[in-house]
Amino acid sequence: MTYTRKDTDDRKTVEGILDGLAVKTIEKLKQKGAFSELIGILKEGKESVIILVTDDKDKKIILKVFKITASNFKNMQKYIKGDRRFAKTKPTKRAIVYTWCRKEYANLLRMHDCGVSAPKPHAFLDNMLVMDYIGDEDLAPQLKNADIDNPEKMRDMIIGQYEKIYKKAGMVHGDLSQYNILVFEGEPIIIDVGQGVLKEQPNANEFLLRDIKNICAYFRKLGVECDDEDVKKRIMN
Ligand SMILES: Nc1ncnc2c1ncn2[C@@H]1O[C@H](COP(=O)(O)OP(=O)(O)OP(=O)(O)O)[C@@H](O)[C@H]1O
Ligand SMILES: [Mg+2]
Repeated sequence: MTYTRKDTDDRKTVEGILDGLAVKTIEKLKQKGAFSELIGILKEGKESVIILVTDDKDKKIILKVFKITASNFKNMQKYIKGDRRFAKTKPTKRAIVYTWCRKEYANLLRMHDCGVSAPKPHAFLDNMLVMDYIGDEDLAPQLKNADIDNPEKMRDMIIGQYEKIYKKAGMVHGDLSQYNILVFEGEPIIIDVGQGVLKEQPNANEFLLRDIKNICAYFRKLGVECDDEDVKKRIMN
């Protein structure tokens, strides 16, 4: 199958958005075989650029590039500190963003291995992460924009996913909201897991309660019952 620029945002080119070093890192990833063809930019956010690429079988995959200068690295430190997996990170902006990328890779892998519905990570290098593409012809919508037939069932499926994150992977997501859940074939897929921390991390409980608050507030707005305390019990017990 041939993908056209129509699938992506024509107005933005990789060269126009990323600096020379980033373009070189993308080339290195390609040389290593992490992807085959670069199709184009899907989304540009404050802190990352989401690029559509293909694998050697011409299947769509995602290259997530973490911006260095625009990164909120002070905030990132909060989610790295106290995590035994990343204790050796130097306190420079670039080093922190590289660790952040490696952390999202490690978190995705851990969640994926524990049966959480999350994109499977393929590779990472410096500030770039390659992972499964969620969608078909079109990118899967964020929960906030998805048509949901049965919101009660969606709520329960999301809580079920969080139970796996907590009980099986031993983690807390740290930034769960209607923006970081995609809906594909009627099921929630958890994304953007760079903030995720191990549940022993000193702030883990605070992050878990915030995640629950976000999700319940979202469902209550849809008129769906969602009690923070009940959800907390279900996830933690
Ligand atoms: N694997 C994926 N498959 C399909 N779409 C994806 C994937 N990863 C990211 N996206 C899309 O890109 C958006 C941004 O990705 P993500 O949430 O991981 O980055 P972010 O850190 O929130 O970026 P920013 O802070 O720059 O907005 C997602 O909301 C989703 O629409
Ligand atoms: Mg996000």
